[in-house]
Amino acid sequence: MGHFDMYDFRRVMGTFPTGVVIITALDTSGEPLAMTVGSFVSVSMDPPLIGFLPAKTSSSWASLRTSGTTKFGVNVLGGPQEDICRAVASRKTDKLAGFEWTRSEHGSPVLKDAVAFIDCDTHSISDAGDHDWVMGDVLDLYTLSTDLPLLFFRGGYGSFAPGSMAINTDISVDVLHQLDLVRPHMESLAAELVTEVSVMTLNDGELINVGAVGRPRRRRSSSRVGVHVPFMPPIGGVFAAFGGPEAEALWFSKIHPNADTEVRTDFEVGLENVRRRGYACGLGHAAGEAIELQAHGAYVSKSPEERKHLEAVVSDAARTFNIVDVERDQDYEFHSATAPIFDRDGVCVFSMTAWGSDGLTSGGDVLAALERLKRTADAAAQDLKFRGR
Ligand SMILES: Cc1cc2nc3c(=O)[nH]c(=O)nc-3n(C[C@H](O)[C@H](O)[C@H](O)COP(=O)(O)O)c2cc1C
Repeated sequence: MGHFDMYDFRRVMGTFPTGVVIITALDTSGEPLAMTVGSFVSVSMDPPLIGFLPAKTSSSWASLRTSGTTKFGVNVLGGPQEDICRAVASRKTDKLAGFEWTRSEHGSPVLKDAVAFIDCDTHSISDAGDHDWVMGDVLDLYTLSTDLPLLFFRGGYGSFAPGSMAINTDISVDVLHQLDLVRPHMESLAAELVTEVSVMTLNDGELINVGAVGRPRRRRSSSRVGVHVPFMPPIGGVFAAFGGPEAEALWFSKIHPNADTEVRTDFEVGLENVRRRGYACGLGHAAGEAIELQAHGAYVSKSPEERKHLEAVVSDAARTFNIVDVERDQDYEFHSATAPIFDRDGVCVFSMTAWGSDGLTSGGDVLAALERLKRTADAAAQDLKFRGR
């Protein structure tokens, strides 16, 4: 070795973060085998090859290598899967006991809630110092969930937190350019309020979270970026109020069929309130959170049942949005506040949302947050007016 020892080696290599996969296989008696691996890498597209590096001393690798099958699966873990990652890394046997899995087409265990699965057959095993270098032929591969991936760094776990970016959308380059101009305003508001600030666009009858900055103040497993929400009352009120008559008509046409007259009146009153106040406001964590849970992932890729359920949850939140007048000396479950951002033509291109915190917030603090939100959205609109293209 040079002027370093194994501790230096570990410490320095530990500055490089990795994703985490669980390699799985079924032995000849049908017992599932598994190993937690950070050294997974995509190797070649043509032919399709992947690889990973198990330690020669690993007993998990020994049982995989002698399982009687050359087939194995690669399960890419999501942020919420730290428990299975730790269990598989520390257990000696029964690695998948207590965790749900199914058999892949080629016979390897597919873990429930994995982000992606890659069905493989062993291509080669070669020597790599105190490790083996294993390559697999890719037989099949697919994604399973929209969770962000689990990350491993210096012995600790985390998940990817996209700063502000736009993913998984077909929004135009012009809108992305405008998002660049809005981002610094999101950042200053997020810093001022010490919370997460996100931005949505209305695209093809769907609300899409195209950017998020700051840290959420409520417990959440993954970022809002990329989350699609149906544009239907009571959410998206800012676009209904300021997006022109078409958007308003579309919004009302999406009222849940189960909504009664009372609920419909709430939506009408709420919309007028948004127009008059210049912002939308969600008070009530349970209803707001239910929507977020249901909305995770793309609405367009949901099954009809999932869509129905989501729509019912949204409709149930009628009184949560835009009805209550915030009083300075009362406390509220401050869920979210949303203001319009207008482009140079006066079109509402984005809505900017500041997210509240768990528990109760004083009316005074809610009003202060609303004031700052409005000011920030106006400042962003000024930038779009003078610097937008
Ligand atoms: C996040 C994470 C990544 C890991 N990556 C690898 C790896 O790439 N190669 C490896 O041999 N072991 C890796 N390990 C260690 C093995 O999962 C396992 O804990 C170790 O081999 C324990 O020894 P055993 O297999 O004899 O039980 C990793 C462990 C964790 C928690």
